[in-house]
Amino acid sequence: MFAAGTMLFASCSTSPESEMDAFIDDLMSKMTLEEKIGQLNLPASGEIITGQAKSSNVAERIRKGQVGGLLNLKGVERIREVQKQAVEDSRLGIPLLFGMDVIHGYETIFPIPLGLSCTWNMEAIEKSARIAAIEASADGICWTFSPMVDICRDARWGRIAEGSGEDPYLGSEIARAMVRGYQGDGMKRNDEIMACVKHFALYGGAEAGRDYNTVDMSRQRMFNDFMPPYKAAVEEGAGSMMAAFNDVDGIPATGNKWLMTDLLRNDWGFDGFVVSDYTGVTEMVDHGMGNIQDVAALSVNAGVDMDMVSDSFMGTLVQSVKEGKVSEETINTACRRILEAKYKLGLFEDPYKYCDLERPAKQVFCAEHREVARKIAAESFVLLKNEGNILPLQKKGTVAVIGPLANTKANMPGTWSVAAVAQNIPTLVEGMKHALGDKVNIITAKGSNLMSDAAYEERATMFGRSLGRDNRTDKQLLDEALRVAAKADVIVAAIGESSEMSGECSSRTELEIPDTQRALLKALLNTGKPVVLTLFTGRPLVLNWEHKNVPAILNVWFGGSETGSAVADVLFGDVNPSGKLTTTFPQSVGQLPLFYAHKNTGRPLAEGKWFEKFRSNYIDVSNDPLYPFGYGLSYTTFEYGDVKLSANSMDANGEITATVSVKNTGKYDGNEVVQLYIRDLVASVTRPVKELKGFEKVFIKAGETKEISFKINVEMLKFYNFDIDYVFEPGDFDVMIGPNSRDLKSARFTVK
Ligand code: GLC
Repeated sequence: MFAAGTMLFASCSTSPESEMDAFIDDLMSKMTLEEKIGQLNLPASGEIITGQAKSSNVAERIRKGQVGGLLNLKGVERIREVQKQAVEDSRLGIPLLFGMDVIHGYETIFPIPLGLSCTWNMEAIEKSARIAAIEASADGICWTFSPMVDICRDARWGRIAEGSGEDPYLGSEIARAMVRGYQGDGMKRNDEIMACVKHFALYGGAEAGRDYNTVDMSRQRMFNDFMPPYKAAVEEGAGSMMAAFNDVDGIPATGNKWLMTDLLRNDWGFDGFVVSDYTGVTEMVDHGMGNIQDVAALSVNAGVDMDMVSDSFMGTLVQSVKEGKVSEETINTACRRILEAKYKLGLFEDPYKYCDLERPAKQVFCAEHREVARKIAAESFVLLKNEGNILPLQKKGTVAVIGPLANTKANMPGTWSVAAVAQNIPTLVEGMKHALGDKVNIITAKGSNLMSDAAYEERATMFGRSLGRDNRTDKQLLDEALRVAAKADVIVAAIGESSEMSGECSSRTELEIPDTQRALLKALLNTGKPVVLTLFTGRPLVLNWEHKNVPAILNVWFGGSETGSAVADVLFGDVNPSGKLTTTFPQSVGQLPLFYAHKNTGRPLAEGKWFEKFRSNYIDVSNDPLYPFGYGLSYTTFEYGDVKLSANSMDANGEITATVSVKNTGKYDGNEVVQLYIRDLVASVTRPVKELKGFEKVFIKAGETKEISFKINVEMLKFYNFDIDYVFEPGDFDVMIGPNSRDLKSARFTVK
């Protein structure tokens, strides 16, 4: 058994770093080459399946010291048992890391990350990660494969659901908050776990939005738009990074030395370890980078330290060292990084630090955590339309909740909820009943299947998340729904995607609501009763028809385990919605990639025009989104005053304050996300027409006015130029402030 504080030999220095170095030096001096390579091996436990390959005879390999950690094993008893095997049965007793995809909660599930990002509330986002860490660590997990910080501007890509949307500034702030939430005060406590930032890098730029597809982008786009959140997470002290499946500049990230060593370590100073994604190492054979031995050598030489599930490090690196393809020093470096992570997590001091059998009953899925999740879920919802203020509903009469998402447990948490216990999760109807008690009579019907194409539905509801294809015909389902609707005062349509229509390997070429559900919606509208669309989705959808025909649309994303109660809280006015989109909703999938921070081009359209020959536009659809980045309605209204600047110019060391007044002109108190955008009008490279550079979420009482100020300095005006130097260039800038990226008040200033 190890006691890191017990020096195995006398040491003169006392700094924690040197204590760790001395401890690891001593340990590594005892290890064989094979045992060092064993630390680089991360097999799957086989319990929770998140990829195609399976790992075999794991127990035997743990005993032989050929395993550095396990992924996706659930249950503190099981983990304690396996840790005991490692510590007591292997020659050196090196403890294992236990990692899991705790992406937006453990058993208490928070909104999918794209939903979380729409809160624009860093404190809430950090809190969600903190609670996830408490629950996961209570159940034996010390390492989470989160935050996923991949920027994405193409809603066809299903994993847009797992990230924080299209903007690098907001994405960076969220990345920092998640790392803080997971790692707490340096992973000393047994409820602090190591973060793993993914997927490094550029995975969200997959061509055509098709998962695992090639990524090919300029260095300009990389460094100005896609890299900032990874860098922010590294600056926040993330303990590990995960390599992306895709290639970068023609070399797969998993074998890309420029990415993993030159940029990540030498430029950014990252001092943790890099793990491949699931079989990412051997997938480089399919990328065309060589045979298994070649790609394993390429990967570890590039700076990837741990091999998830492919067994290629364990299977080939001893041979590669013998053949001089990989140096022993490289193996030592990778092994040291893994041992350092274990040391920093306190596993040498106490291998059972995360194995307190008493904790789960007290801390996992507890009422306190669920209450927080309910609040955050309500804050993540985005009110897209509310014609005639049909919302909030009154707590009286009969409400019919109709749709395939009304009575499903497994689909409420959303994608990447691997630890969720579906039977513990209230359905939408159950949650609404719990929240409303006997004040409202809730009746319900399924109304339709998820879609007419059963094979597509099968693909869209993997992992046992099926909504249960009904053996009744569409007509029978619809007739039942109309009978239920006839008894109601108001209809809440629970409609949208299933949870696995987004997430990994869930790219779509069309982004409408599935056909049978659109038909159901039409039939419900034809009853003439008020209809509120409660939209479940893991991505931006094309909602032109819904926007035109449905009076109220509340986008609830997948709100997590407490969705039902949170939906009731918002629909019936206990919570005034404040969510704002962090990814653009297009009019047509043909517009993608579509994002607010676009370039002006040499042929921009004139303001207010949507077509002009020989200008940059389409002949069938305007360039505008249906709903822009930053958009979201409230039950109240906010009026913005003009932007006032403390000065119209400054020098490079100066600072200008931009201030607006925001008045709550409605009858509900509410939260408003005031957004600051800046445009660099002239520069050495083409610059976006605007970029988010600040935001503030403020609570304003009905009738009240608040002054919101932002300080602007040249640090905020920097960008990566043609030579990828991070520079500021003097000149004129527009500062724009408003409730979203479209409706903005503007003022101009100059920096000399
Ligand atoms: C998956 C995902 C990655 C996840 C890993 C382990 O393929 O790409 O995000 O952390 O495998 O489940």
